[in-house]
Amino acid sequence: MSTDACVIPAHLHPADARFGSGPSRIRPDQITALSAPLLMGTSHRQAPVRTIVHRIREGLSELFSLPPEWSVTLGNGGSTTFWAVATTSLVRRRVAHAEFGEFGHKFAEETRRAPFLEPSIIVSAPPGETIELTGDEGASDEGSAPDAFAYPHHETSTGALSPVRRIGGSSALTLVDATSVAGGVLVDVTQTDAYYFSPQKCFGSDGGIWIALLSPAAQERARKLHGATDRWMPQILDLSVALDNSEKDQTLNTPAIATLIMLADQIDWMLAEGGLPAMAARSRAASNLVYDWAERSSCATPFIASPQWRSPVVVTVDFAPEVDATRLAAILRANGIVDVEPYRGLKRNQLRVATFPSTDTSDVEALLSCIDWVLPRL
Ligand SMILES: Cc1ncc(COP(=O)(O)O)c(C=O)c1O
Repeated sequence: MSTDACVIPAHLHPADARFGSGPSRIRPDQITALSAPLLMGTSHRQAPVRTIVHRIREGLSELFSLPPEWSVTLGNGGSTTFWAVATTSLVRRRVAHAEFGEFGHKFAEETRRAPFLEPSIIVSAPPGETIELTGDEGASDEGSAPDAFAYPHHETSTGALSPVRRIGGSSALTLVDATSVAGGVLVDVTQTDAYYFSPQKCFGSDGGIWIALLSPAAQERARKLHGATDRWMPQILDLSVALDNSEKDQTLNTPAIATLIMLADQIDWMLAEGGLPAMAARSRAASNLVYDWAERSSCATPFIASPQWRSPVVVTVDFAPEVDATRLAAILRANGIVDVEPYRGLKRNQLRVATFPSTDTSDVEALLSCIDWVLPRL
């Protein structure tokens, strides 16, 4: 596909042309923070790096207004690893999942395949919608009642946002995948027991670690399952080991120190800018520009039909068949405006634009001007 003829005038370009849904844009100050003396290339068991981890844990407690008995726990491997951690360390016998896209499905697949668990209950909605668990899942079958309920707060593959609320009775845990929306939307984390995410989305850092905000009930479950004899629990998947290490501002094994430094810098920035309400407002303003543009357009529509489910941080826009969105994204990429391709598995004639808190509205306005310039030239 030749994109040669389409050179977008320079004055239309965004100042920062990174619109990816993760890894996402990193603010220049975060990169500068990496050059602080005696930090990169030093031991993660010594004070300078442990101070960074401490800052992260304290900062997240403040950002999410965590009650004192909650824990900010972290480990290596990203949210994908946390799914395995949750499977071994938070699900006692059976879990019910809501899935409405690729990532909810992936967690459900992990627990479905765990030989020590009863068959998981999976409630699905098609991509583009959301579905909520009721807490009654499994009531009419032979299996145990679920002791954990799991759903994504935000499905990055589609840009659908779910309400966050506690599911099930007092002995069940609510596990919420907030990988790509934590830090970009208001939330009452006390409606959950594990609210987990990765740093390469709203926090504009690099990947490789998972962070979980854990209620006392989740901590207690992890401590109890530590001694379980019905399952093999490698140390890296043992949440009680991660809890112990996090209390010492460490991780079980060597972390990517750059990820930690850039994460700490972003949390400081978020708090200085006004915390979660300010971040949610930034993302909502930036995403609304795209939704409003698509509503006005004669050839584009927001993929998420219902406004209440529309993500403030990942905007998906469908194009009419006469617009080749793959070519549109390729032309933008050839002009240095990157990562607006749709989620690969969704296979839609679509663009996906991330509006995480680090994204200025002026960059989104410029992106839309570039798209408007390219459309008649496709
Ligand atoms: C909603 C959601 N959950 C989980 C993951 C996996 O995160 P990681 O790549 O950090 O393992 C992603 C990654 O994009 C995601 O968007």
